[in-house]
Parts: sequence; structure tokens; C-alpha cells
Amino acid sequence: MTVFGTGYLGATHAACMAELGHEVLGVDVDDNKIAALSSGTVPFYEPGLPEVLERNLAAGRLSFSTNYELAAEFANVHFLGVGTPQRHGSYAADMTYVRAVIEQLVPLLRGEHVIFGKSTVPVGTAAELQELADSLAPSGTSVEIAWNPEFLREGYAVKDTITPDRIVLGVRSGESSAEALAREVYAQPLEQDTPFLVTDLQTAELVKVAANAFLATKISFINAVSEICEIAGGDVVALADAIGHDDRIGRKFLGAGLGFGGGCLPKDIRAFMARAGELGADQALTFLREVDAINMRRRDRMVDLAKRAFNGSLLGHRVTVLGCAFKPNSDDVRDSPALSVAGSLSLGGAAVTVYDPQGMENARKVFPTLGYAESASEALSDAELVILATEWQEFRDLDPKAVAELVARTHIIDGRNVLDVASWNAAGWTVEALGRTLTP
Ligand code: UDX
Repeated sequence: MTVFGTGYLGATHAACMAELGHEVLGVDVDDNKIAALSSGTVPFYEPGLPEVLERNLAAGRLSFSTNYELAAEFANVHFLGVGTPQRHGSYAADMTYVRAVIEQLVPLLRGEHVIFGKSTVPVGTAAELQELADSLAPSGTSVEIAWNPEFLREGYAVKDTITPDRIVLGVRSGESSAEALAREVYAQPLEQDTPFLVTDLQTAELVKVAANAFLATKISFINAVSEICEIAGGDVVALADAIGHDDRIGRKFLGAGLGFGGGCLPKDIRAFMARAGELGADQALTFLREVDAINMRRRDRMVDLAKRAFNGSLLGHRVTVLGCAFKPNSDDVRDSPALSVAGSLSLGGAAVTVYDPQGMENARKVFPTLGYAESASEALSDAELVILATEWQEFRDLDPKAVAELVARTHIIDGRNVLDVASWNAAGWTVEALGRTLTP
């Protein structure tokens, strides 16, 4: 099989399909990515992926190329995993890269082919791509478009791909060979009783955006309750624990704090709203505008708390922000709440020092003017305020007594509600947190 696109999704899918025993060619237009992957280097941080990549390159099951002619001859099964970023100046998803693969690949195909779309796309895309493919396929060649959305989380991408919690496949009505092929491709997870849901194309496309919209809504729900807790004097963590025991609600994704970011949730809810508008159903999803707004307000709230720590003005104050990746176990800083807070504090006049175990290189490219430290202890030295913005294990494990020796003022704001407040208080720290009333 081939896998088009070698970003987080495509590179992981290619390597993991080889791990399942398939012969895989990963294809991208980016020479640098292809060169890196061919030499066994994963161009981003994803635990476990380098080992899978190396093992399968060595076994000869996995290779990478920029050559579409080669890809067209290599396989009859193709996966499409290119990016669908937010379009500049609009909420809608940019479908340029998805269309480009079909436009370049299909005229080169001979015989019978199935293209499984994995990218997150607006509902209706697969049917449009089928029409496009039909118009470009050489005579005697048939190309079927099916949709097989991907639910992998960064940081757990290998596990989520090899042992997914469900496999969803959208197939066209009428004649289709996609389901039989998918059963071969995913034979191993299917043997382990992974739920396999075969739907129409539209439903499969919608499953993905609906799942991400639900997750975003769950996070914003608890963060909205956070706002009330802050005013009324409640504790959102105790509240989340209490409502989470109801298994209809569940405790997962009720982590109150700086909110969601990354390459998926923010852009997916916006693209979902944009598509609903195009379909004449914008009212159905206007609540997602609130979900987005609640999420963004958490960042403002953190900046306000920081200002308050200095009696209203950040000017010249030394603030250390722990974390700049959008979540732990990732080097991804796309729409990162942590980096957004660090940037706002810096623009507000603070001298900001950032440390993150993996995200620094990417953060430097986006925000070169922040101070970047080589280690947590270097970042913490002489800080007047510490903000925990991404809950890396390294930060959860910090020893409050040892950190107290490093800083100029023992004041920390927990933006992810992960610190053991009692032990930090015992070591002399003033602890504040989003959604909790901790300090009188
Ligand atoms: C998400 C979906 O989980 C995945 O299924 C989909 O394929 C891609 O989008 P990902 O972007 O890797 O995956 O991150 P996820 O683990 O879902 O976290 C998203 C954001 O929500 C992070 O910024 C995280 O910090 C935040 N979050 C998560 C919270 O603020 N609170 C929580 O309780 C959980």
C-alpha cells in the first residue's frame, strides 16, 4: 500500500501498517521529510515511533519517496493522510493538499485502485473526490474513494494506530471493494475484536469531526464551570471528580485548566461550523462558537492572574512558563495554550523564560523573542512568578522545596491542575490555579 502525506498522521500510519506486516511506500512532496524518514529519523517527537520506523525500514517493508509514478505502480491500495489546515482568513478547512494528491495520482493509475481517505475533511468531500477521480482516471481504470477516519492522539499515535479503539469505514453505495480490502489491511486489530463500523461516506466523515467536537465541548464545559468556581469560591477539580464518578459523564476530558490546542481540536470545530453554514444548518453548531470562546478565555484568565500577581503590571517582571507544547508527550506547538500565554505575557512587558522538554525548537520558530532555557532549573532561576502551562511529568515531579531555592518569589500558578497543592504550600509557596480558590 502507499500512504500519501508523511506528517503526524501519514508517517505514523505508514510505519504502523508496515509493523502490521504490510509493504508500505510513504509519499510526500517534501524532500526533507522523505530524506529524514528514509534515513530512520522521525521529523517530530512521537514516543515509540522511531523504533517502529527503524525496525520496518530494516526489514525492507517500508520505504519513502516523492515519486508519484513509483507510487502509482507500487500498490492498488492507497491511504490519503495529508493535512487539512484551517484556511487563512476563514474557518473552513483548506482542501488544497487533499485535492492535489488526487489530481496528481489518479491520471497515473492503471487497473483497479482504492483510495482510503484518512484526513479530517468537511462532510461531502469523499463524494466530490470520487467525481474528481472518475473524471481523471484513464479509460479502463477504476478508482474507488472510501473514507477511513483516523482517531490517533499525539503522544499515543503508535498505540492508537496498531490497537485502535474502533475502526470506521465509509463506503459508497453500490459496487465497492473497500470493505473487503480494509478487512485485509486491518486483519490483526480485527482479530482482537476491535469494533468495525461500516457506514456511508458522509457518516464516516462526520464521525471524525463529531468526535473532536464532543471532546472540545467536554473540555470547554468544565472550563466554563471553572469560571463559576473562581467567582463563587468552588473547586473545579473536586467538582470534576464528583461528577466524573457518574459513568454517564466520566472523568476523562474533564481536566480543567488552560484548555485545548493542537493541530486538531481548534481547527476541526471551526471547520465543522463552517461546513454547517455551507449546508444551511449553521444554527446547529453555533454552540461550538461558545466552546471556542470559553477555551480562549482561559488563556486571558491566566494572563490576568499573572498581572494580578504583580499588582496590575507585568512590566519588567521575570515570569517562567513551564511548557510550550500544546500537551505533554508532544513537541507540537500548533495553537498551544502554553505558548499563547507565554507570548501574551511577553507582549505585555514581562521578561518571559520558557522551558519545555520537547517543544522548544518549534516554539522558537513561532516566537523567537521569548527567552528559552536549557533546563527546568535554569528556567526557574530567579523567577518572580512560575506558570505551569503544560503538564509534563517532569513538572509534576518538581520538588517544591528544591524549586523554592531557585526562584526569587515562591508564587506558582497551576494552569493544568496537576500539582499537589498541600506540599507546595508546605514548602512556602503561594499556589493559585485555574478554577480553584486556593489562596485567600
Ligand atoms: C485529538 C483527539 O483526541 C484525537 O482523537 C484526534 O485524532 C486528534 O485530535 P490530540 O490533538 O493529539 O488528539 O490531543 P488530545 O489528547 O485530544 O488533547 C487535545 C487538547 O485538549 C490538549 O491541548 C489538551 O491539553 C487538552 N485537554 C485534554 C484539556 O485541556 N483537558 C482535558 O481534560 C483533556
